[in-house]
Formats: sequence, structure tokens, C-alpha cells
Amino acid sequence: MQIQILPSLLAADYGHLADDIVRAESSGADALHLDIMDAHFVPNLSFGPDVVALSRKVAPGFYRHVHLMMTRPDLYVEPFAKAGAQTIQIHVESDCDVHAELKRIRAKGIKPALVLNPETPADAAYPYLKECDEVLVMTVHPGYGGQSFIADCLPKVTAIRRRTAALGRADFDIMVDGGVNGTTGPEAAAAGANQLVAGSYLFKQADMGAAVRALREDCTKCFGLKS
Ligand code: DX5
Ligand code: ZN
Repeated sequence: MQIQILPSLLAADYGHLADDIVRAESSGADALHLDIMDAHFVPNLSFGPDVVALSRKVAPGFYRHVHLMMTRPDLYVEPFAKAGAQTIQIHVESDCDVHAELKRIRAKGIKPALVLNPETPADAAYPYLKECDEVLVMTVHPGYGGQSFIADCLPKVTAIRRRTAALGRADFDIMVDGGVNGTTGPEAAAAGANQLVAGSYLFKQADMGAAVRALREDCTKCFGLKS
């Protein structure tokens, strides 16, 4: 299973956003994670499609992973698709027809993904597994960077890994997001996560490339040990 490391642009220096997008790409990370917050689904605002388009402009070959923390993601699939999103993640707790939106995202040639908040059980994802390419298990309450990893969410990663394996989808992508660092990342990989989002941990590094390589290597060694 391929381990992927995704820096979250939420932790970038907003005075030098373009430079930080290029810095994340140059680190050898697998994709850029872009956090969209609507001040309703979560108590914070971040940025919109223009920043996704900026990423496409300054780093066209750097895969763009868009996490919609929005009450009505259905109203914004179109502008984020136009801005260059390549994966769009919507929350199962959002106020839309989740089946229909996952299908609509796929019909646009974008990878559809489902997100579970910390308090949402793993089986909330099961009715949607056919329609999505990936499940993101939040390991913090969404809304802010720099929070502590909630290890109690890891059994959900293992449950979803077992479920997707039983469905014959051994290569199903399971992501964790929030509080990921050099210690918690390998713990999540041991539980069965193969995609790791890290914001503050990676952006605070003097050498982001070395941190990405070390995290990828440690997660690769630990992947699936507890699942
Ligand atoms: C939290 C966001 C995360 C955030 C992670 O609401 O979804 O992607 O950027 O930040 P860190 O890695 O600092 O916890
Ligand atoms: Zn995120």
C-alpha cells in the first residue's frame, strides 16, 4: 500500500502563500490538502476556490485535494471543480444528499471522498463506500489547525480498513487529518491509514522535505501492523 503525505495549506504563511505551495511541492509530498471552512459547519473561515486556482497556477503538477468543511458542499462542488480540485471530500454530517453529491463529483472526473467527524461512527460511511474512492477519518474536531491528535478515532480507521478489504478493495485509501506528527502519523498507519495530512507539523519544519521523507518511511514500516 502506497503511503501518501499531504501538507495542509491551512498552516502556511498567508503572506507568502504561493511560495509555501511551491515549498510543499518541492518537499516531495504527494499532494496538497486544501481546507475549506464556511464558518457554519465549523466555527472558522479559511479560503475559497481562488486559492485552489492559485495552487494550480503556481504548482500545476501538484495534486490538489480539497476538504469541504461546509454545511452545503453541494453548492460549491462546481466552483471548486472549475478551480482545479482533483479530489473533493465532503462530510457525511453535511446537509446535502451525500449519495448524489459523491456521484456528481465522480461524473466530473474528480475523485469523490467522504469525511467522518471524530464523534461519527465508522458504520456511517458504509452505505457510501461504493461511491467513494477514499474515506477521511478526522483525528481532530474540524475547524482549526494545531490541535492534538485524538487517538480514540483510530479504531474507526481499522474498522473501515477491514470492511473495505472484505469488499475486495485492498487498495482503498483511508486518510487521517488533524494532529498528525512524527509520532501520531505512524500510529495512524499502524491502524490502517495510508494517507496522512499534516499542517502545522510540516510547515514548521526548517527542512520540510526531510520531514516528509521520514514520515513516509516511518508510516510505511508501521502500515497495517494493528489492523
Ligand atoms: C482541521 C483541518 C486540517 C488541519 C490540520 O480542521 O481539516 O486539515 O489543517 O492541521 P494540523 O496538522 O495542524 O492539525
Ligand atoms: Zn483537512
